Amino acid sequence: MNRSRLTNIILTTILVIGVAILVVQMQNAKEKRNAKGAEYGTAAAEMKTGEKSALDVIFSRKSVRHYTDREVETEKLMTLVKAGMAAPTGMNRQPWSFIVVTNMTQLAPISDMTGLMMLKKAKAAIIVLGKKDEKFWQQDCSAATENILLAAEALGLGAVWCAGYPLTDRVDNYKKLFNYSEDYEVLSLISIGYPTGEDQPKDKYKEEKIHWNRW
Ligand SMILES: Cc1cc2nc3c(=O)[nH]c(=O)nc-3n(C[C@H](O)[C@H](O)[C@H](O)COP(=O)(O)O)c2cc1C
Repeated sequence: MNRSRLTNIILTTILVIGVAILVVQMQNAKEKRNAKGAEYGTAAAEMKTGEKSALDVIFSRKSVRHYTDREVETEKLMTLVKAGMAAPTGMNRQPWSFIVVTNMTQLAPISDMTGLMMLKKAKAAIIVLGKKDEKFWQQDCSAATENILLAAEALGLGAVWCAGYPLTDRVDNYKKLFNYSEDYEVLSLISIGYPTGEDQPKDKYKEEKIHWNRW
């Protein structure tokens, strides 16, 4: 065997080994990502990597007020609450509590009293409550609410943020129905179900809203 042929064989072998190592490393990284997803619930783990990017979810999120008759899986509701708790909070105080409502007859009076008609067809709701004596409770609970809305979009659910605080009438109704601790206030009620497809994202981009470096 001449010298150049030997060099070729060695280089090809090195290349093949290199590619094999790369493939194994990519496979390991994928398994690690899936294991991480499993920590946050099988529903999240089931989402294939890259199926819907974070930006896809952000830009496709919309308020969904029309739902099909399909029930929402408990596991998905758990994933939504976990997503809420992953939100940032001032000084990491996490001053929240969540009431997950699956018995929707409980919310029928709210729908009648507040005119939140989407609750009549919703299959579940998550009420986000904040501890009133915490400095940033409104911001913290808003961040949790948005996380839940984004997670709902990512899981193929439809959801809409329904105001609580500072609408005193609504908050009074929530308090009557759920009798939660005096230390807490409802920031939002998130109505949830599978979307009929009637609700679509709005294009809200306005260039004039952006100020570069100065007003
Ligand atoms: C603080 C806040 C309170 C809201 N309250 C209600 C509400 O009580 N009822 C409702 O139908 N939608 C409510 N929404 C949803 C808005 O109407 C909706 O986000 C807005 O029209 C923009 O539409 P989009 O979410 O599809 O982009 C609320 C949203 C926010 C951020």
